Amino acid sequence: MVVFETDRLKLRQMDENDEDNLMRIFSDPIAMQYYPSTKTKEQAQSWIKWNLKNYENNDVGLWICELKENGAYVGQCGIVPQIVNEQQEMEVGYLFVREFWGRGLATEAARASRDFGFTKLGLPRLISMIYKPNLPSIKVAERIGMTFEKETLIKNRETLIYSICK
Ligand SMILES: CC(C)(COP(=O)(O)OP(=O)(O)OC[C@H]1O[C@@H](n2cnc3c(N)ncnc32)[C@H](O)[C@@H]1OP(=O)(O)O)[C@@H](O)C(=O)NCCC(=O)NCCS
Repeated sequence: MVVFETDRLKLRQMDENDEDNLMRIFSDPIAMQYYPSTKTKEQAQSWIKWNLKNYENNDVGLWICELKENGAYVGQCGIVPQIVNEQQEMEVGYLFVREFWGRGLATEAARASRDFGFTKLGLPRLISMIYKPNLPSIKVAERIGMTFEKETLIKNRETLIYSICK
């Protein structure tokens, strides 16, 4: 199911058949350098299940991003529920295949996810949770208008919270 489109991208819901697509990011040690580790195929399937649950329960989730021009899978972006310091939050998340970095695609998808969250879902606020050394991710958050709010420890990692209100 297509959720929305941007100039260059189509965002659709993921399903069980997306394991190989997800593994193009999850098995790449460079793409996963700011995560605790790369992920296995089993973890990719749990990730898919987690997103299917979010689609069903909250109308949110990470969506698969494909190039409109040729259908190529380029990454995932969307909105995911998170708990930060015991507060319920909605996060804009983005993970892209390395060969598609540096083209503004993550920013394009994140900006449209932000707008979807504010206008279609009526969310009052969105955040991004970013492991402190992940500069490319900080740049995406700033490009979509988020500003630094605080630093906190999440799973024992120094995590920056960026946020934007409607
Ligand atoms: C975080 C991540 C999505 C950022 O990807 P990215 O490609 O750097 O981000 P963008 O899509 O915004 O692209 C921006 C770059 O494209 C360039 N660019 C080229 N054409 C562009 C265009 N048409 N529009 C905008 N930017 C363009 C920009 O100049 C910028 O380059 P710079 O970073 O050298 O200044 C990517 O590093 C990633 O997937 N990392 C692994 C997963 C991850 O860590 N996710 C975040 C978890 S918090």
